[in-house]
Amino acid sequence: MADPWFESVAEAQRRAKKRLPKGVYGALVAGSERGLTLEDNLAAFAELGFAPHVAGLANERQMGVTVMGQALSMPVLLSPTGVQAVHPDGEVAVARAAAARGVAMGLSSFASKPIEEVVAANRQTFFQMYWIGTREEMLARMERARRAGAAGLIATLDWSFAYGRDWGSPFIPEKIDVEAVRRYAPQVALKPRWLWDFAKTKKLPDLTVPNMVATPGDPAPTFFGAYGMWNASPMPTWEDVAWLREQWDGPFMLKGVMRVDDAKRAVDAGVTAISVSNHGGNNLDGTPASIRALPAVADAVGDQIEVLLDGGIRRGGDVAKALALGAKAVMIGRAYLWGLAANGQAGVENVLDLLRDGLGSAMVGLGRPKVSDLSPDDLVVPPGFERQLGNVAVDSALRATSPSHRRREA
Ligand SMILES: Cc1cc2nc3c(=O)[nH]c(=O)nc-3n(C[C@H](O)[C@H](O)[C@H](O)COP(=O)(O)O)c2cc1C
Repeated sequence: MADPWFESVAEAQRRAKKRLPKGVYGALVAGSERGLTLEDNLAAFAELGFAPHVAGLANERQMGVTVMGQALSMPVLLSPTGVQAVHPDGEVAVARAAAARGVAMGLSSFASKPIEEVVAANRQTFFQMYWIGTREEMLARMERARRAGAAGLIATLDWSFAYGRDWGSPFIPEKIDVEAVRRYAPQVALKPRWLWDFAKTKKLPDLTVPNMVATPGDPAPTFFGAYGMWNASPMPTWEDVAWLREQWDGPFMLKGVMRVDDAKRAVDAGVTAISVSNHGGNNLDGTPASIRALPAVADAVGDQIEVLLDGGIRRGGDVAKALALGAKAVMIGRAYLWGLAANGQAGVENVLDLLRDGLGSAMVGLGRPKVSDLSPDDLVVPPGFERQLGNVAVDSALRATSPSHRRREA
């Protein structure tokens, strides 16, 4: 048998492509419309260079960092991803890998495993919520997460229901029924190892989202059923964000912030952390790479809240670049999903090890013994690289007209 260990995230992706049915692989590639943002998330990291030293380097690699109250062995978290059918152990395997490597994970509302099982595997789990349904329904989901022992809450609001990919969207069935089997059979027949993984468990992926119900074990909606509820929900206001934050007694992250003015509003809403993110290129196509928006956001609010970044991290050097430009830590999405698809829990651990080693090499080369020492001086940033989203001059005017601001001023 070939060595299950892989030496790069790119290799994990190749193995995932080989192993997964075409539709499941396509759902992980994701991206929207032309794929501009998806590409820019990767291209932007390639534009950034390093400025290494030649002597006086340190052997130490102090990577520990505290994010949302959790001590982590390195500045990397596993971002919440609502995907199904990648591996039978799904998010539980991800949680075990995260715990084995001392990092935190976000668990998506659209995940395939119940939060109770995931927290049992890794106490450093943050529950991620979208704005779906009524306030009462959201409170009930939050209460379940609290009872399960979630260490924090992540609110993800950067979703605008854009659809249609120039390269074609994968067929994702509502549930595994006769029609799904008929349409999936040809792709699945070509992927015996994936099928065997599920066959061993005597269960097919059921494509439900168990964390959308208030009580563990209650009948859960399907992925598409929950998506429909989301689409029908009113879009949240900044007052809603502040309300949601108030309901959660603990660390709270707003994920998906790209603009300086929004970052300031997030501070006003009382968040603990934000992730500068464009949902991995899955939201509005044409949004710049998150790493381009990071410096301006970190400058504006980095001394008030924790600023993280996600989007396009594929190697340890990318982690070093994000930290040098102002992130306290990064979150990864596809990188660990490729690892999960390639080799289950061990594959996710493999990816985390690659990021740790790569970050370590960057720290040695740059002569930085601690991650907190990384700075823009360590990088070659080409002219015009950064994008400041959200006009700061207009910002104060906008804030003055927002309902929550007026109420506070009154
Ligand atoms: C297949 C897929 C599903 C995702 N599902 C969610 C989700 O349910 N909730 C969420 O907050 N973000 C979700 N994301 C976004 C990730 O949390 C993260 O922002 C993104 O993947 C980072 O970019 P990267 O994949 O380049 O690392 C998803 C991303 C992918 C690729």
